[in-house]
Amino acid sequence: AAALPEGYIARPLRLGDYDAGFLDCLRVLTTVGEITKEAFDEQYKWMSSQDTYYILVIEDTSTGKVVGTGNLLVERKFIHNLGLVGHIEDIAVAKDQQGKKLGLRLIQALDFIAEKVGCYKTILDCSEANEGFYLKCGFRRAGLEMAHYY
Ligand code: ACO
Repeated sequence: AAALPEGYIARPLRLGDYDAGFLDCLRVLTTVGEITKEAFDEQYKWMSSQDTYYILVIEDTSTGKVVGTGNLLVERKFIHNLGLVGHIEDIAVAKDQQGKKLGLRLIQALDFIAEKVGCYKTILDCSEANEGFYLKCGFRRAGLEMAHYY
């Protein structure tokens, strides 16, 4: 995959990202709620203790702020010989940073991890409005999403 634009780095999420705008970045996507530092730390530590969550961020090195994020969730299955399925979740690029290929690079990086850890496929759900973005990332329409909200 090609490089990020100059002045940006991609790296795993870290505890300090609470103060670097990680949650604000996610607010581009949906409601996040008011999460205390303690609650964030606890969630982060639990997720880090599993081999299931690969959360990447893109940092703007000129400000130290998180301007993009994405999560690869690795699901263990019985089928396909104890197969692994990657789920791409919670992709967000800060509004004023969109259109610089940061989203594309995030997806490419998550896709690379999924293949490396041995997933036989990676899937995601998105709105019709984002279909074009994921097509450019090499994904194609497959199946039909259904949901039951509580
Ligand atoms: N529809 C069609 N094409 C698009 C769209 C879109 N909505 N968004 C980007 N593209 C195209 C770009 O034009 C570019 O094309 P090019 O290579 O021909 O120039 C290519 O896709 C790559 O675009 P990026 O610059 O990498 O996109 P960006 O960094 O702006 O990130 C993203 C895209 C993540 C959708 C961003 O707009 C965003 O955060 N939106 C709000 C939150 C959101 O909807 N997240 C995705 C939810 S789905 C999920 O999480 C699984």
